[in-house]
Amino acid sequence: MQIFSDNINTLRAQISKWKEDGNTIGFAPTMGNLHDGHLSLVRNLKKNGAKKIAVSIFVNPRQFGLSEDFHQYPRTLKNDMALLEKEGVDLVFCPEVNLIYPSHINSEIIIDNPKLMNDLCGRKRPGHFNGVLLVVNKLFNILQPDIAIFGQKDYQQFILIKNMVENLFIEVDLILSPIIRESNGLALSSRNNYLSYENKIMATEIYASLVKVKDKLDKKNDDITQIIQLEVDRLNSIGFKVEYLELRNLDNLEVCNKAEFEKKKYILLIAIKLGDTRLIDNLIL
Ligand code: PAJ
Repeated sequence: MQIFSDNINTLRAQISKWKEDGNTIGFAPTMGNLHDGHLSLVRNLKKNGAKKIAVSIFVNPRQFGLSEDFHQYPRTLKNDMALLEKEGVDLVFCPEVNLIYPSHINSEIIIDNPKLMNDLCGRKRPGHFNGVLLVVNKLFNILQPDIAIFGQKDYQQFILIKNMVENLFIEVDLILSPIIRESNGLALSSRNNYLSYENKIMATEIYASLVKVKDKLDKKNDDITQIIQLEVDRLNSIGFKVEYLELRNLDNLEVCNKAEFEKKKYILLIAIKLGDTRLIDNLIL
């Protein structure tokens, strides 16, 4: 496994060589503290035909708000490297902040998509998705992958990246990878580490709640808004702070209020706070 942290030119030379030899390059961007969800991205890249796998580990300061957990975010590089090596990853890119955001460049580039960016998670995290798109764009330019993979866990992030790739004619095929969960339903997340033992058990309610709402919606006879509001009230009454629980169009995340369900056309998305920890999840209907 080759590790690059401070030299973009040698990294690019390696990728070019692999491409010249006819290899399809698969890429999974991450912020590290890797768990099975991240590792499933590597496995799914292989299933989708990637012959050389590159993973980036970079805790991107631009996607954290001032009051968010950038400094607290778990950094476990040594362990991450061991996991990636075991998974058969070919290349890891783990740059320092100054390589990605060089201090001598004092002009600011912003990639915006105002309507979707300020919706859902963007309502409580202004600037977050600008930071995500900027870093993903930079990483795509550095690594030039043929295929890049993102988790359904961060579905709004995936749709924004898809829009960016289409809009900016970026030559990469995107893959959406299913959510990996614990056996009790809790979606794996680096932020689960912040939860106390009790809250981790309580957090299993989140997925259970999505399944419950889905079952009710499948019956089609009740009002969507009412079903969702009842569930929001219930979650708030047992100690969660629901930021949103919404049913949206799967393709573009536009609001969906009508009871017109076609299978695989809608997605139920949730963001909640449990103590100081913010958790997200979703379920495709
Ligand atoms: P991070 O939170 O580290 O996630 C990296 C990738 O792993 C994302 O595509 C995310 O959706 C996926 N992922 C996380 N938990 C998952 C789970 N339980 N099952 C399946 N996939 C999961 O998302 C980011 O980093 C950053 O925003 C990034 C795209 C790297 C840009 O900085």
